[in-house]
Amino acid sequence: MSLLRHLVTGGAGFVGSHLVDRLMQAGDEVICLDNYFTGRKANVARWIGHPRFELIRHDVTEPIRLEVDRIWHLACPASPVHYQFNPIKTAKTSFLGTANMLGLAKRVGARLLLASTSEVYGDPEVHPQPESYRGCVNTIGIRSCYDEGKRIAETLCFDYHRMHGVAIRVARIFNTYGPRMLPNDGRVVSNFIVQALRGEPLTLYGDGRQTRSFCYVDDLVEGLIRLMNGDHTGPINLGNPGEFTIRRLAELVRDRIDPGLALIEKPLPQDDPMQRQPVIDLALRELGWQPAVPLERGLEPTIAHFREVLEA
Ligand SMILES: NC(=O)c1ccc[n+]([C@@H]2O[C@H](COP(=O)([O-])OP(=O)(O)OC[C@H]3O[C@@H](n4cnc5c(N)ncnc54)[C@H](O)[C@@H]3O)[C@@H](O)[C@H]2O)c1
Repeated sequence: MSLLRHLVTGGAGFVGSHLVDRLMQAGDEVICLDNYFTGRKANVARWIGHPRFELIRHDVTEPIRLEVDRIWHLACPASPVHYQFNPIKTAKTSFLGTANMLGLAKRVGARLLLASTSEVYGDPEVHPQPESYRGCVNTIGIRSCYDEGKRIAETLCFDYHRMHGVAIRVARIFNTYGPRMLPNDGRVVSNFIVQALRGEPLTLYGDGRQTRSFCYVDDLVEGLIRLMNGDHTGPINLGNPGEFTIRRLAELVRDRIDPGLALIEKPLPQDDPMQRQPVIDLALRELGWQPAVPLERGLEPTIAHFREVLEA
């Protein structure tokens, strides 16, 4: 059997680089495409020079011609500090980037997986969120560039599928954490770990009673691979249904690094959802997938990663 050639957009980023590792370890060919906005060459450095690996600096808002079998479309900043840095660019990355990748998929007959997000549910009135829930998204808020960007990206996928028969897979990814997250990405796991490692108090926005789910990156990548290889189009939720309050997460991190640190409260930012938790029945049924790594275990390698980054 000939090797599959994979294109991973955003492949030098946090999730993308873990996916690249898995695809390379499986013995396939991988083209990693990234504009290095939030990605780092260091994340894929181990593969540079490998005969089955190629690294391309490219912005997905521009078209590109490549011969590939599978497109994993992850390119898009994922953390609010980064996607709000240039919100117009974020919207363009989602819309134009996805349109370009779908155009490529159509031209070469590749299967495309979109990394969508639980943010398409906005600040949900339904809890927990099944895929059938249509969301409660503010179209004009400061998170809209990302939330609405992903919603139109999903729409484009389904229209390319209906109009042109492009094989698509849509994953709605919930909060994921693990090694290679950026220390300055402003997401809650990295914030708490970095604060604790610096010996600073841990900052809770609001009273810390808002809940989140936290999926370890290896679990997520396994889910993405099963989705791409399976027959189900999606959208399909991939996340860890274990629900934790932000305060509980802060305590878990603090207790592993320095139990003496304080937790302090600051005002909630605009459009911050109160609850976010996936229903993963569909993933379990269609992909035989569920997360295997509990938060307590996933925090260990994540803390070790940040320790290394901060020491360097
Ligand atoms: N990590 C999560 O919790 C999470 C949750 C939901 C959805 N997602 C989605 O998963 C994907 C990967 O997220 P991540 O956490 O790895 O984020 P990340 O910021 O680490 O990775 C995104 C990658 O895309 C690249 N990129 C951004 N804009 C680009 C452009 N215009 N052209 C080419 N490359 C570009 C960045 O440089 C980076 O390498 C994103 O699409 C994100 O929306 C992630």
